[in-house]
Amino acid sequence: MISLFLSVVLILSNGQTTVKKEKSMSFELVKLPYTAEGLEPVISKQTIELHHGKHLQTYVNNLNNLIQGTQFENLSLEVIVKKSDGAIFNNAGQVLNHNLYFTQFSPLGGGVPSGKLAEAIHVAFGSFENFQKEFETAGTSLFGSGWVWLAKDNDGKLSITKETNAGNPVTKGLTPLLGFDVWEHAYYVDYQNRRADHLKSLWKIIDWSVVEKRY
Ligand SMILES: [Fe+2]
Repeated sequence: MISLFLSVVLILSNGQTTVKKEKSMSFELVKLPYTAEGLEPVISKQTIELHHGKHLQTYVNNLNNLIQGTQFENLSLEVIVKKSDGAIFNNAGQVLNHNLYFTQFSPLGGGVPSGKLAEAIHVAFGSFENFQKEFETAGTSLFGSGWVWLAKDNDGKLSITKETNAGNPVTKGLTPLLGFDVWEHAYYVDYQNRRADHLKSLWKIIDWSVVEKRY
């Protein structure tokens, strides 16, 4: 093993490119904690297969290709999002966003949050129902593609942020807890132009235990 490693290094130091250096790190498509049809009828199997299997996979592939040989190659996803711009930011942001998005759902989801998160929601928004209303309004009023997030600051104070395109609250020093994707690819197959209906239905599949852990 050691000699193999040395020979690889020698070949590379001679400038030859026929031997491929092992990738030091690459991002992978996040695994879904449910089946593709598990979130129906809120999100269809077809949308999950397109959104997770095609859109997110493309962001992951793009990111891995873009960071190769750059200062971002060995950084965590969150640090890349904080430090990059342009194409690397767009793809890293979308990988981070979708990793949070797809892992916050469950076929057994819905209901209301509990514990400290529930208390913080009450403090920030008056009630859970009012929080839902403000969150949906933020999502429906966002022009074009983007995300609406529930985020916390360093003191645990909650706020709703609207982010265009690949934006994520980490760039504002906040921790994202819950995100609704308002890109058309998230809902057009199932809801066409009815974004508000889609956002309202997402509450039925939120796994609050996941969101509470992020808090
Ligand atoms: Fe998306």
